[in-house]
Amino acid sequence: MTAEPVAVPHVVHVDLSGRGALVTGGGSGIGRACALRLAAAGAAVLVVDRNVEAAKAVAAEAGGRAEGIDLADPGAVDRLDADVDIVVNNAGLQHVAPVQDFPTDRFAYIHRVMVEAPFRIIRRSLPHMYAHGWGRIVNISSVHGLRASPYKSAYVSAKHALEGLSKVVALEGAAHGVTANCINPAYVRTALVESQIADQAATHGIGEDEVVEKIMLARAAIKRLIEPEEVAELVAYLCAPPAAFITGASIALDGGWTAN
Ligand SMILES: NC(=O)c1ccc[n+]([C@@H]2O[C@H](COP(=O)([O-])OP(=O)(O)OC[C@H]3O[C@@H](n4cnc5c(N)ncnc54)[C@H](O)[C@@H]3O)[C@@H](O)[C@H]2O)c1
Repeated sequence: MTAEPVAVPHVVHVDLSGRGALVTGGGSGIGRACALRLAAAGAAVLVVDRNVEAAKAVAAEAGGRAEGIDLADPGAVDRLDADVDIVVNNAGLQHVAPVQDFPTDRFAYIHRVMVEAPFRIIRRSLPHMYAHGWGRIVNISSVHGLRASPYKSAYVSAKHALEGLSKVVALEGAAHGVTANCINPAYVRTALVESQIADQAATHGIGEDEVVEKIMLARAAIKRLIEPEEVAELVAYLCAPPAAFITGASIALDGGWTAN
């Protein structure tokens, strides 16, 4: 499928030793890259994922800890260790259907995982951050936090809600040294996207390269997928001292999609 991955060196110099970081959906894709990047900067990482084995494997690689929970379970979310300095709200999932056919339970589930769980985690981690006068909340939103696409009502509305949550936390946290930002990637080379490519190729009877070029990259000016490590490098930057003034922002990592 599509061009070879581009190598992403660590260019951000940030020392996170002594900091604790919680990364949701850390067992795979962008979350895994974030967990490893923050660990490489010295943070003690808590990898949260419903895939327990994946969470444990990444935690072992990162020298951190793992929690296997479903983020749609509010009780389990509220039992997570929230004494952390960095939160990366990353876990997410997609469901594609026209609004009139969209299963209501699926809509509610997606909102619990992608809006309510971030709210609960932020809510519980802020007292620790405020007490230390420093905190970094990075919400992995999407180009779909800024733009819509048909058939993705739950995902698009959840990402737009996450954008609003992030901005409110930025306003409240500013006086306490806490920043909150969204990162808005277009299509990233992860399992979530690879399976969509394979499905669409089968559905449309076209090649995988064609799915990427004609469907996924149609709206981006730069015609390639993003690597998870490129997202993780931006997360590292948002935790570094020069980013202390960046808050309430939505940083597009979308190859020009939203410039349209
Ligand atoms: N891949 C992309 O193109 C892309 C683009 C923009 C934004 N994003 C966002 O980035 C985030 C990560 O996506 P990814 O592509 O790395 O996906 P992925 O499928 O590779 O990884 C998502 C991880 O989240 C976990 N997860 C999903 N639902 C969960 C739940 N209910 N409880 C606990 N863990 C759960 C999964 O087990 C998985 O390990 C998502 O929020 C997604 O919306 C992805």
